[in-house]
Parts: sequence; C-alpha cells; structure tokens
Amino acid sequence: MSEPEVERYVTELFAPEDAVLAAVRASHRESDLPGIHISPQEGKIIHVLLRAIGARRVLEVGTLGGYSAIWIVRALPADGTLITIEASEKHAAVALDAFESAGVSDRVELIRSKALDTMRALTGPFDAIFLDADKAPLPRYYAEAMRLLRVGGLLLCDNTFLDGRITRASDMSSDVQGMREFNRLAATDARLTAAVVPVRDGLMVAVKVTD
Ligand code: DHB
Ligand code: MG
Repeated sequence: MSEPEVERYVTELFAPEDAVLAAVRASHRESDLPGIHISPQEGKIIHVLLRAIGARRVLEVGTLGGYSAIWIVRALPADGTLITIEASEKHAAVALDAFESAGVSDRVELIRSKALDTMRALTGPFDAIFLDADKAPLPRYYAEAMRLLRVGGLLLCDNTFLDGRITRASDMSSDVQGMREFNRLAATDARLTAAVVPVRDGLMVAVKVTD
C-alpha cells in the first residue's frame, strides 16, 4: 500500500526474516506452490496481535506451505498449539517439511482435509482464528469461526481486497461474492469489532467482544 522504498524500510526494520523463514519461502518457489503466502509485514502484524492477547490455542484455515503458520506459532508460549487445515496433499507435504526445519512440529497439528468439515468437527475455544483458504465458502467459515472463538479472541482474514476485485461491481465470481459477504458479516456483527489493515492484499482483524 505504501511506496516500495518505505515498504522495504519497514519490512527490513520491523519484520526481518531469519534464515528459516527465508528458506521456507524459497522452498515454496522450488515446489511450484502459488506465490500467495502472506508477506513478512503481515506475518509480524499477526504475530504482534497474538502476543497482545496472550494467544495459546490458534486455528489456521489454509496452510499453503506453512509460512504463515511459522509466524503464528512463534507468537505462542512454549505450551501453545496451532491447528492448521490444508486440503492440498502437495501443499501439506511442503508445510510439514517447513515445520521440521523451523523446529515447531511438536506445536503444530496439520489436518489434511477440506476446511468446512474439519471446522465443524472441532471443539473450541480458540484464542485466534486465521482464515486464508478458498474464498467462496468464507461465510460458512465465518459461522464456524464465531462458534469456535472465545470472547476476547481474534478473528483474522487474509485477502480483504482480492486484488481490487472486491469493489468491482461487475465481478460476481464466487470468490468475490464470498469475500463480500464475509466482510459484511464481520463489519456488522454486534459480537465483533473489526478493522482492515491495508497490508499486502488486506488483512481483516476483529476481536470477539461478546458471545
Ligand atoms: C489467492 C489466495 C490467497 O490467500 C492470497 O493471499 C492471494 C491470492 C488466490 O487464490 O488467488
Ligand atoms: Mg491469502
């Protein structure tokens, strides 16, 4: 959202990658995973928010190659746990390697499955839930996330802007419609107070204020 030099300055100062994160990003490219992982700044924002609420038990929907999961799990205490759901076998295999290389395998549970069925079978409470999977089912992920989230917990969702398609009225594709309805729900649900951080493709952040 900001000028490239400012963006680089902030990333290098506030969100530098260590060798592990840089190698995980490189492994995404080598494995031909789509280059759609979160940015370091976005990872650091999520990390700070998780630390601020003292998150111990977190759910991620859409693991991809594990890059965001490493930012998340590093924000948790030694006995914290991340459950992360990934439908693609190929992505999950890359992620499992990433968790090994980051030394976090004992604190991350990767569930290889479609998100909705898995979410429906989970038991709360979670301190935070990060939605970053397919966009068309987001309203249904929203309902499950609200059931699983504790009061005071964080709901986070990637790709609020959908590369600018969110405001293109003629774009009625299923992912855009899913994101529009998700954004409307998050913005208007009296159980949440929500904002959008204009980092990369947009990060919706919300706290559940009441059941
Ligand atoms: C897409 C999905 C993402 O989660 C993302 O961060 C960027 C792009 C996509 O499906 O195109
Ligand atoms: Mg995303």
